[in-house]
Amino acid sequence: MPQDERIKKLASLLHNAEKITVLTGAGISAESGIPTFRGAEGLWRRHRAEQLATPAAFEKDPRLVWEWYDWRRGIIGSKQPNPGHRVLAGWEKRRPSFCIITQNIDGFHRRAGSENVFELHGNIWKVRCTNEGTVFDNNDTPIGTIPPLCPDCGALLRPHVVWFGESLDMGILNNAFRLSGECDLMFIIGTSAVVQPAASLPLAAREAGSILVEINPDTTPLSPTVDYSFREPSGEILPRIDKALKDLE
Ligand code: OAD
Repeated sequence: MPQDERIKKLASLLHNAEKITVLTGAGISAESGIPTFRGAEGLWRRHRAEQLATPAAFEKDPRLVWEWYDWRRGIIGSKQPNPGHRVLAGWEKRRPSFCIITQNIDGFHRRAGSENVFELHGNIWKVRCTNEGTVFDNNDTPIGTIPPLCPDCGALLRPHVVWFGESLDMGILNNAFRLSGECDLMFIIGTSAVVQPAASLPLAAREAGSILVEINPDTTPLSPTVDYSFREPSGEILPRIDKALKDLE
């Protein structure tokens, strides 16, 4: 089917869907200038994950881990959400039941205006007390004294993100599986679909009979399973789908 027709078909599915769930990964923020994890320029090529994004690494050298997160906060803070994030924020306002489940910690979906967002891997703009577990918002770039300390008890603060070897928040994960199992249309955008349990969410949606749409310039292990594949950057294709949707509204 020619691309224009596929876009029109998808716009019509979007227009008629009752429950839409979107799963996003690092690729949706790539056009904002945020490096992804895998691939030629990926973060995990240049940094060894186990030296930086693990509880053991933090225990051994909290300053090194915080310097890396402070560097990433500096990059994210200097960039903006892109048209892909903004289109999704617009759909939440216009479609009856719409949510985003993201693996990203950059906070861009909310900055673009999305509200119904489930952050599976935490948020880089939140910090957590290692002693009491209290979570604080912190938007300072640079963060100041490294490593930062809890204003209440003086213990070390850590980034409120999920590290390798740690469990996801069960409440958020349960909601993510429920929303995947209930939707009739799921978008899978900018994820390599290799990290669990996020990579299983589209399978839960598929089992429940949902239509799956993948937006990713590359193929992924999910690609053979999906109904529609758009092999283009999300910041380009989402505005085109949005335009076709607006023609129907
Ligand atoms: P990856 O870096 O593994 O994958 C990014 C995906 O985005 C790849 O499949 C790219 O082809 C695709 N991509 C690149 N540019 C794109 C664009 N402009 N539009 C659409 N897609 C594009 O990132 P994730 O799948 O998000 O976890 O990685 C999952 C998790 O692995 C991360 O949340 C992180 C990491 O370890 C933790 O840190 C816990």
